[in-house]
Amino acid sequence: MNRTPEPELMESPSQVKAYAGADFSKSDSMVVEGLEKYLKKVGKTLHKDHVILDVACGPGNISERIATNWPFVKVVGIDGSKEMLKQAEKKLCKSFIKNLTYELIEINSIATGEKHFPLKADVLVSNSALHHFHDPYRFWDALKKIGNKKCIHFHRDLIRPTSIEKAFELKEKLLATSPEILKNDFYASLKASFTVDEVNHQLVNSGLFQLEVFQVDELYFEIIGYI
Ligand SMILES: C[S@@+](CC[C@H](N)C(=O)[O-])C[C@H]1O[C@@H](n2cnc3c(N)ncnc32)[C@H](O)[C@@H]1O
Repeated sequence: MNRTPEPELMESPSQVKAYAGADFSKSDSMVVEGLEKYLKKVGKTLHKDHVILDVACGPGNISERIATNWPFVKVVGIDGSKEMLKQAEKKLCKSFIKNLTYELIEINSIATGEKHFPLKADVLVSNSALHHFHDPYRFWDALKKIGNKKCIHFHRDLIRPTSIEKAFELKEKLLATSPEILKNDFYASLKASFTVDEVNHQLVNSGLFQLEVFQVDELYFEIIGYI
C-alpha cells in the first residue's frame, strides 16, 4: 500500500479531546520501559544536568511518565499544536511533577533553521511522531539539530500495513469500542506510516547510521541508538 500522509499537527479540539482521553497506557509504558532498558544496556546513567526531550509530545502522557521515572532530569515536551499542549498543561497542573515543561514549537521550523531551539537534548524520545511528517527528513534533520553529542534516541511508531484491507481490519479489531473520531485518526495514521525498510533508508540517507530499526510486533517498530 502506498503512503497517504495525514495532516501534521493535530489541532481540531474534538480530535485532541478524543486522543487525550484515550487509553494508550500499554504502549506508553513500553516507551519508558524500552528507554530504561536501553540506557542500562549502554551503561548510561542520567543525572540532573541531563535533558530529555519528548518530541511531538501531544497531550504529554509519555512526557509525564518520563518525568516521573527520572525525577532529577529536566524533561521538556515539544509539540506544534496549541490544543494538544493545552491538554498537556491542564494535566500537569493537577500533578506533583516538577521537572517537566512544555514548549509550543513546530518541528519543521527547527529543521529548516527558521527557529532555533535553545536546548540540547541528551535523550530524544518520540512516539507516534515520525508518521505525521509529510517529509520524514525534516523530522530527522530537526533531531540532529536538537541532540547533544552522544544523544540517546528512542522512537516508536506505527508500521504501515501492506494493504488498505489490512489497515481497515486493524482499525476494526484494535479500536472496536473506541469513538469514531479516534478510529478514523488511527486509520489515517496507519496509512501515513512508514515501513521498516523505508525508515532504514531514511536513516542511511540522513547519515544516522548508528540508529537501528527493530520491528516490535505487527503494529510497531522502534528506532534506537545513540549518535
Ligand atoms: C499521534 S500524536 C502523538 C502524541 C504523543 N507522542 C503520544 O504518543 O501520545 C502526534 C503529535 O505530533 C504532533 N506533530 C505532528 N507534526 C508536528 C510538527 N511538524 N511539529 C510539531 N508537532 C507535530 C501533533 O500535533 C500531535 O500532537
